[in-house]
Amino acid sequence: MTENLTQKSTKRIVIFASGGGSNFRAIHSKIEDSIISAEIVLVVSNNPTCGAIEYAKNNGISTIIINSKGYPDKFGYLDAMRSSIRASTADLVVLAGFMKLIPKEIVKEYTNKIINIHPALLPAFGGKGLFGMNVHKAVIESGAKYSGPTVHFVNEEYDKGSIIAQRIVSVFPDDSPEDLAKRVLIEEHKIYPEVVKAICENRIKISKNKTSWIEE
Ligand code: GAR
Repeated sequence: MTENLTQKSTKRIVIFASGGGSNFRAIHSKIEDSIISAEIVLVVSNNPTCGAIEYAKNNGISTIIINSKGYPDKFGYLDAMRSSIRASTADLVVLAGFMKLIPKEIVKEYTNKIINIHPALLPAFGGKGLFGMNVHKAVIESGAKYSGPTVHFVNEEYDKGSIIAQRIVSVFPDDSPEDLAKRVLIEEHKIYPEVVKAICENRIKISKNKTSWIEE
């Protein structure tokens, strides 16, 4: 049989999520529709009752709850997280609304294999404490006219890894943080699956901390 050289291999994805999991669902639906050639092999969460875990269970995807409070020290926590990812033989780790810092030992082991989505235009409005609705509040308070999601590789610092993609949305004078969050989330659900697809097709290159895309 002749091998089709353009054929895409199926990548193994681990999702980390703490909340509703709408980004996870957006990625999963593109996999279900065969637009992304990948399999979600595990969902990791710190929150057993979050929407992401419920969705995974309803869709027959393996889940694991790893919460630092469940371990006597940071080494136990690190070990649990690291061994779950190793056992999954993941090609890519996708943080989809995961509100905890990934231990640096794991970031090192999975350099350029962990991505995150942040709901503002990094490098502005990122860093410790700036997650979820806090980000949208900070954007509105600053008077910024534009916001939008950023997808980036994860390094050892909050929201500092190489930027892969961004989208711009307007911030209107009478926006509440919830209004802005909704507008940004619509773009998140487009951009994150696009990035995951491109990575699964080996179309994102990184050199000297700068990324570039190879067109389809
Ligand atoms: C998303 O807006 C995502 O950008 C944000 O949390 C939300 C999760 O929504 N992530 C962060 O703030 C990480 N710093 P979801 O659970 O519905 O995907």
